Amino acid sequence: IQADFTLSPERRIAPVNRRTFGSFVEHLGRCVYTGIYEPGHPAADESGFRRDVLELVRELGVTTVRYPGGNFVSGYRWEDGVGPRDQRPARLDLAWHTLEPNDVGTDEFLRWAERAGIEPMMAVNLGTRGVQDAVDLLEYVNGTAASALADLRRANGHPEPYGVRMWCLGNEMDGPWQLGHKTAYEYGRIAAETARAMRAVDPGLELVACGSSASDMPTFGEWERAVLTEAYDLVDYVSLHRYYEEHDQDLASFLASVTDLDHFIDAVVATIDHVGAVKRSNHRVNLSFDEWNVWYQSRAESVVPAGDDWPVAPPLLEDRYSVADAVVVGNILISLLRHSDRVTAASQAQLVNVIAPIMTKPGGEAWRQTIFHPFAQASRLARGEVLRLDAAGPPFATAKYGDVAPVDAVATWDRATESAAVFLVNRHPAEEAVVSIDMRPLGLDRVIDATTLSDADPYAANSADDPLRVVPGAAKVAEHDQVARLRLPAVSWTAIQLG
Ligand code: AHR
Repeated sequence: IQADFTLSPERRIAPVNRRTFGSFVEHLGRCVYTGIYEPGHPAADESGFRRDVLELVRELGVTTVRYPGGNFVSGYRWEDGVGPRDQRPARLDLAWHTLEPNDVGTDEFLRWAERAGIEPMMAVNLGTRGVQDAVDLLEYVNGTAASALADLRRANGHPEPYGVRMWCLGNEMDGPWQLGHKTAYEYGRIAAETARAMRAVDPGLELVACGSSASDMPTFGEWERAVLTEAYDLVDYVSLHRYYEEHDQDLASFLASVTDLDHFIDAVVATIDHVGAVKRSNHRVNLSFDEWNVWYQSRAESVVPAGDDWPVAPPLLEDRYSVADAVVVGNILISLLRHSDRVTAASQAQLVNVIAPIMTKPGGEAWRQTIFHPFAQASRLARGEVLRLDAAGPPFATAKYGDVAPVDAVATWDRATESAAVFLVNRHPAEEAVVSIDMRPLGLDRVIDATTLSDADPYAANSADDPLRVVPGAAKVAEHDQVARLRLPAVSWTAIQLG
């Protein structure tokens, strides 16, 4: 396979949005309890949050975190989670069939985010609740007046408003599994009215309307059109959610998953802009890709408790990620970056233990999954403006998506530091690719650093006992006359810094 790329300033897409590198903390499984929060753990701080996890969160380069769900939010009573701990009720969480102790709530999470230097992105319950509860929570979190709920926040120890800008108007309301599931028209109406009321409290908010839970939802496309017909001028974002997994041992199709993702994003942009045109509106609605990842939904890890079993924080959705999974995650990041003109926020789902880059042992250590590495590298290196590169190389056949170019890539260029980063995946299941990167149009001539994540076994994974089984290793890059040349092993992710 030969794949040639040229870095050209003419192929600028948009500035890198730091919010592309967002994540997600849901009250689900062990994401919160024994994930970010574990009082009594040797690394816990005075509030019970694990410092070792926080360090990994920082290394991951997470910029925003969506909270508290997910499906959980559609049955959540936010007031259960504020005030004195010993008075907080335990509640049935109907989304995940567990018992929610409410030891962690809005204040604990927002303080954790403050300490982490992360921008929080809150979600309101539009499943079992509605407009009043959304504005109540907003008043509690951001209220500046001497009003009852802002005073309650002050009494609970946070005199200053938290100033949360981004708010999700519910979660996956198109999904029949969602508590309070709605038709597009019903949801569009409640989203519009909630947005109107929330803006009356705080006009500077950025509001996210629920789009489709996946590109293969039967209502996809029509859902977005109908919701936006009701709420277009009142929202700033439409959400997209998408998870991929390998089915039927078809590695080639799995590695080419971004074919679907690219199409999904383009279709949502087209639908948004169609509604905007019909409304003769100058308002711009962007995309918040606020749940994405590899998730093996068909495996036992995703089976929720049932019957009389209502455990507190059981291990749920604890997928172990392979090299191939990391390549798909890297490719998703490439796709998000190349759509930076419209995808201006994104959240990988989720942060710790639950389909997550960071894993913990209760009472024990925290470690990095394979998928940690492409995220951390992209977040660290993507600076300045995004430059388009087209997927290259002789196409390989996939059962799901037809012929697909094996090497996909994107670049970023930081004029201020005269440096660039190139992110590449070789999605071919068996063949190495020989790649050239022509830096002449940017006037660059140096390879500062290059690493590749790959393994002879595409299913190799890290574990608590062997956390360093898969890590990025130095890549050999030759530079001659401002052209960098390197080999990408089959099923690999590569990050290169040029100067
Ligand atoms: O991230 C796991 C779940 O996936 C979320 O709770 C839900 O929004 C989605 O279906």
